[in-house]
Amino acid sequence: MSDRVRRAVCPGSFDPVTNGHIDIISRAAGLFDEVVVAVGVNKSKSSNRLFSAEERMAMLRRACADYPNVTVDGFSGLLTTFCVERDIIAIVKGLRAVSDFDYELQMAQMNSSLTAVETVFVPTSPEYSFLASSLVKEVAAFGGDVSSLVPGFVNDALTERLAASNGG
Ligand code: PNS
Repeated sequence: MSDRVRRAVCPGSFDPVTNGHIDIISRAAGLFDEVVVAVGVNKSKSSNRLFSAEERMAMLRRACADYPNVTVDGFSGLLTTFCVERDIIAIVKGLRAVSDFDYELQMAQMNSSLTAVETVFVPTSPEYSFLASSLVKEVAAFGGDVSSLVPGFVNDALTERLAASNGG
């Protein structure tokens, strides 16, 4: 066996981090020596972000504090460039349902055509299969209770940010 560090990335927008993300990150941390959670700037989505990249990274660092082999970073170019620069051998993605698969497969195949990086799909735990940051924001914006879906400090940040954006 090679003694090369087996390093993986969990990429995403994380606007904000949910319990579903933490489930996937913690399981990736059990499979690899090191996991880098990488907050990407997705140009098509960047205009409607609720939290800045720095805020999203700070929330992720707090959420992942219990996992000693997990670090948090940002990236703005291609994910595969980030992987090459950091000697990352695998991209870990959670799959919630078959509907996630088409796009994720396309991205996995594109990424492996660009560089020698594997994509590892981890099935989302059933209790999180409906969970998405976009839905959490929508429910919270209409006053719904999302406290069981995100860490407590994320719930607080959501309440504060949504109140501020409503002029409250
Ligand atoms: O949480 P999201 O919004 O689904 O995350 C998407 C993300 C950031 C992982 C994806 O958009 C991405 O990898 N962006 C980096 C740019 C890139 O490499 N694009 C080519 C993908 S094949």
